[in-house]
Amino acid sequence: MERRHFLHRAGLVGAGFTILPSGFLRGQNAPSNKLNIALIGAHGRGLAHWDSLAGENLVALCDVHDGHLALALERFPKAKTYKDWRRCLDHPGLDAVVICTTDHTHAFIANWAMNRNLHVYCEKPLAITVEEARLVRAKWLTKRDKLATQVGMQRHALPNFNRVSELIRDGAIGDLKSVSAWGNRQIRRQGYFPAAGSPPAGFDYDLWLGPSPEHPYNPAYFAGKPGMNCLEWNMFWDFGCGQIGDMGSHTMDLVWNAIDAKVPTSISAKGETFNPDVTPVECESHFDHPANEWRGPIRVSWYQGGVMPRSPKPFIDLEKISHGAIFKGSRGFLIADFESRMIIPFGDDADLGYYKRRGKGELLPDVGPFQKQWFDACRDPGRSTACDFGYSADMIEQMLLGLVAYRVGAKIEYNSETGTITNHESANQYLRKSYRDGWSMEG
Ligand SMILES: NC(=O)c1ccc[n+]([C@@H]2O[C@H](COP(=O)([O-])OP(=O)(O)OC[C@H]3O[C@@H](n4cnc5c(N)ncnc54)[C@H](O)[C@@H]3O)[C@@H](O)[C@H]2O)c1
Repeated sequence: MERRHFLHRAGLVGAGFTILPSGFLRGQNAPSNKLNIALIGAHGRGLAHWDSLAGENLVALCDVHDGHLALALERFPKAKTYKDWRRCLDHPGLDAVVICTTDHTHAFIANWAMNRNLHVYCEKPLAITVEEARLVRAKWLTKRDKLATQVGMQRHALPNFNRVSELIRDGAIGDLKSVSAWGNRQIRRQGYFPAAGSPPAGFDYDLWLGPSPEHPYNPAYFAGKPGMNCLEWNMFWDFGCGQIGDMGSHTMDLVWNAIDAKVPTSISAKGETFNPDVTPVECESHFDHPANEWRGPIRVSWYQGGVMPRSPKPFIDLEKISHGAIFKGSRGFLIADFESRMIIPFGDDADLGYYKRRGKGELLPDVGPFQKQWFDACRDPGRSTACDFGYSADMIEQMLLGLVAYRVGAKIEYNSETGTITNHESANQYLRKSYRDGWSMEG
């Protein structure tokens, strides 16, 4: 029996036991130590995972499109194929799943997978409603000792993420007061596409819709290049959450890694006129977070679609940074994109004398290859991952609360214990959505 399976079936992983039967202490890359993995969403973004998955046992491929399955089978000819992820999750002997499907299925597949005690790597965004984020986190909390999870915010492995975090926590801009992140992607749509033709042979459109309400087929939802096709459907309320979940996941991650925040207590947002079909392009959301042990209360903001925070100096054009963040402290600013950062101390004669730089040996350790970090944690659930479902669910819950405040057009007060909006009864309906008959987050 495969080592990890043995430990799990014996109930030893996560229970503080380290009893290894003789002969089980094999090298990290010994064939018997490979993980049995299912790739759900076999093409598109799935392609980006093929190389790293080739080092494990890719035993199952799942895709709603036969043509995509056929392409993946060329690379993984021994894998069994599935069209319905619900069947795929019951593939015998599975250890883990990688989820690269549409955003409106992420929380479902992740939750069902954790119900089967499978390790999960899920592409971003982890959820498209506040309720989905909360359900996934609640499930993860009951399994965190034995399951490795990671959300596909792979930029997190760039060393700049840790450098920014060190500068903020070490006081390079004094006491942190506020931080704004932004993304300038702008893809405009009027509404769901009208019915046009029939799905091509081999493509199960009904399964593609999955839990979402019915919308007629139109090839425009599938006109994008592999790995970019999400930009054809992720702005529609029933299929995604727009740029808040798309580049917002990556860019807020740069902030989230540095600020040590949980879920906000109050939220306000404003943007373009509400469209019942399409999430906003132009929008700004503001989140108030309470103090923690190392900083006071802070305001976190997210700007998208061309709306921008103010630059601290006329000679700094933030619009030159397509996705970035600006931290404001009591003694200066820190501006960052994914790969670099700059500090602007207040005052022309600022000397940074208040700040003590970390020594080389005190730097935060590199994340290393992002997928590998998850594989390693699957083999040894005692190891942590940078973007586990706790970290990532908190972050996306915050972002999705921005969309709720945008929809009600008012400042909302949020009780993160109960997951309810306390000052605006009718706003609570936007924390969740209804699904098609026969689909449930639990299964
Ligand atoms: N981490 C990143 O940098 C990054 C980059 C690109 C995309 N993504 C994410 O990856 C996901 C997929 O994006 P994409 O552009 O590849 O989209 P896509 O429309 O091309 O779909 C990806 C694959 O999943 C299949 N699929 C869709 N729904 C399915 C279902 N219910 N069951 C099984 N297979 C299904 C499709 O047929 C396709 O082969 C999105 O959530 C997107 O946000 C992440």
